[in-house]
Amino acid sequence: MYLGLYQKLFATAAVLGVFACVLARRYLARRRLARDHGCQPVARCLSKDPFLGLDTIPMSIRASKQHKILEQNCKNYALYGNTFKVKELHRSAILTIEPENIKTILSLKFGDYGIGHRLEAFRPLLGEGIFDTDGHHWAASRSLIRPSFTHRQVADLTTLEHLIQDLFALLPRDPTTVVDLQDFFFRYTIDSATEFLFGQSVGTLKKSRSGPNFAEAFHYAQRGIIVRGMLGPLKAFYRDPKVDECNRICRDFVQPFVDDAFHAVEASNANKGRQAEMDREKRIFSHELASRTSDRRRVLNELMNVLLAGRDTTASLLSNLFFMLARNPAIWDKLRSETAFLQGRAPSYEELRNLKYVEYCVKESLRLHPVVPRNEREALRDTMLPLGGGKNGLSPVFVPKGTLVAYNVYAMHRRIDLYGPDAEEFRPERWENHKLRPRWGYLPFNGGPRICVGQRYALTEVSYVVVRMAQEFRILESRDVRPWEELLTLTLSSRNGTKVSLTAA
Ligand code: HEM
Repeated sequence: MYLGLYQKLFATAAVLGVFACVLARRYLARRRLARDHGCQPVARCLSKDPFLGLDTIPMSIRASKQHKILEQNCKNYALYGNTFKVKELHRSAILTIEPENIKTILSLKFGDYGIGHRLEAFRPLLGEGIFDTDGHHWAASRSLIRPSFTHRQVADLTTLEHLIQDLFALLPRDPTTVVDLQDFFFRYTIDSATEFLFGQSVGTLKKSRSGPNFAEAFHYAQRGIIVRGMLGPLKAFYRDPKVDECNRICRDFVQPFVDDAFHAVEASNANKGRQAEMDREKRIFSHELASRTSDRRRVLNELMNVLLAGRDTTASLLSNLFFMLARNPAIWDKLRSETAFLQGRAPSYEELRNLKYVEYCVKESLRLHPVVPRNEREALRDTMLPLGGGKNGLSPVFVPKGTLVAYNVYAMHRRIDLYGPDAEEFRPERWENHKLRPRWGYLPFNGGPRICVGQRYALTEVSYVVVRMAQEFRILESRDVRPWEELLTLTLSSRNGTKVSLTAA
């Protein structure tokens, strides 16, 4: 009996010994790596509680209640420097607004960082696709999707014009009526995204063709993503039957478009001449995906992913931009002057791209209110950041595997050293003559291999709406005395909408 006990003790000690050796080796290897690269620890930490970081929770709750999370983030960077640490329950995170650090995680050391931790929150609605996977899966998604954003597809303005006419039919034209443009922009972008992706719009601007609650379900389903993301490891206990129902409605809604796409591809394979004819007519995103893979589930997932990535982002940008335009009549007049040469007709794609002041206004909105204001990556292996270590924050930092590196585009876009003392102001002229070259300091669409695949499409859509609105309405006036307030969901939009009055040209 004693022998058995000794054997057990010996075995336990051996296991502990091996474990200690592994830890010691890892510790020494990390120390060597950090020393060889001149790394220094990040000097400042937001949390005073070193174990779980619970002390920062009241501040976060307060900021969230006041709808000032991003403003609070800016204050933290002003107090703690451009890179600091925070303890978030079981893990630590490094927070940064250094362009060089962001370039490192998104581009130079792309393979060292991932977003795999996002998948569990997104999977019930999106499945596995371009927006929520890493590695080979992501690379395959990207090569499946990217070819569909050709110049020809992006430069086809026909759908945008049809939808503008639907929009104009709904907007009031007298200065006494107040309208919330934000609501209309969300309808415009769901209509255009579904037309682009499925070849058929859900027609929310034309009430008669509305899908089976798709737009509402898609909106509510995103709440599930946000809550699951916030709960982290506790998400297993999260239940919201309405979210489950909305996920089902959305996926069931898209499934018939996937089936149609595969039927169309089968039919065209049987009749090659017809395919060539169809190609000349109109290219439909879902059909293109179906022609590149036989995996129906994959096509469904990718369509869900692109819809999520592309819809609310564009709508939020339009609402934020018009919020600022409505408060700056001189800017609105300047936009109208720039578009005057068109004499009221719709611009061509080339004309649209040449409208410099339109471009500066869109750029400035994305600077002041970037619709993806915060983002993060998880270190997949032990790695490094070039800046943030030591008291002055100028030394490299060792980043152990599993650390979250969060970057805050909103706060970076307001850095005075990058944008000048008027960084908080909406001033499109700052982009004139390419005087300003912030490179990785300006990042509304991300950078590196995962740069937004729909960037050109989004900018075309937004510029088109700006131009057509500027032609149609002589006066755009704000009907909201409150300052811009954040509504931080998966994207950043205006909490009080975009309440304006419009006067016809
Ligand atoms: C103003 C509009 C838009 C903004 C500001 C924007 C911004 C972004 C950002 C910041 C990312 C990186 C997300 C991350 O890696 O965490 C991203 C990725 C992506 N965007 Fe956009 N986006 C916009 C519109 C669109 C549109 C219209 C589409 C498609 C029709 C689209 C499709 C995508 C896709 C598929 C990805 C994932 C790319 C990848 O991971 O390889 N986006 N976008």
